[in-house]
Amino acid sequence: MTDSFIIAIDGPAAAGKGTLSRRIAEEYGFHHLDTGLTYRATAKALIDAGLPLDDETVAEKMAREVELAGLDRDILSKHEIGEAASKIAVMPAVRRALVEAQRRFSEKAPGAVLDGRDIGTVVCPDAPVKLYVTASPEVRAKRRYDEIIGKGGSADFEAIFEDVKRRDDRDMNRADSPMKPAVDAHLLDTSEMSIEAAFQAAKSFIDAALSRNA
Ligand code: C5P
Repeated sequence: MTDSFIIAIDGPAAAGKGTLSRRIAEEYGFHHLDTGLTYRATAKALIDAGLPLDDETVAEKMAREVELAGLDRDILSKHEIGEAASKIAVMPAVRRALVEAQRRFSEKAPGAVLDGRDIGTVVCPDAPVKLYVTASPEVRAKRRYDEIIGKGGSADFEAIFEDVKRRDDRDMNRADSPMKPAVDAHLLDTSEMSIEAAFQAAKSFIDAALSRNA
């Protein structure tokens, strides 16, 4: 047992869980860890060192060296790094190493918000609040497309859409810790819900759990 109040937030990429997690952490004064960055940092370290992405022993060693304090989404956001991350994320030894670090983070008082794919099912199965944030693949691909165009870049919607589906498929169908809602997770579908509405819904679940815990 720890004194930390844990909020577990899972779901696929571009469903809005990052924005929601940051808002929740800010609202309650809790620590926040985007666990996708731990997989991305491991993949980037392998790429930078010119090492293969299919050697589990080497990848585990890199995973054990990841410093949670230094994770930066701006540096790790590249599309190629996300793809590589989802490849090494199928390896049980890599997952074990990163999950250990994530669990240590989750014990930080007064509370922690962790977002990822397996937080409610594997990393923090006893979390008092679990949310599964999702949206249709079309909506998620459109958000990613708009984001790139908004930053002045160029993008191909069909290619992004195929990519979203490929990554979902890899994350949902891997043997170890596949992405899925925990049985006791609250589902938030943001396809037709604003981030503000999702935040208000999340807040009501969290406030109810906090008052049960008090
Ligand atoms: O969320 P993000 O796109 O940064 O995650 C990159 C990849 O890391 C995901 O596609 C997934 O394969 C992996 N991941 C995971 N478990 C988590 C977080 C991310 O397997 N808890």
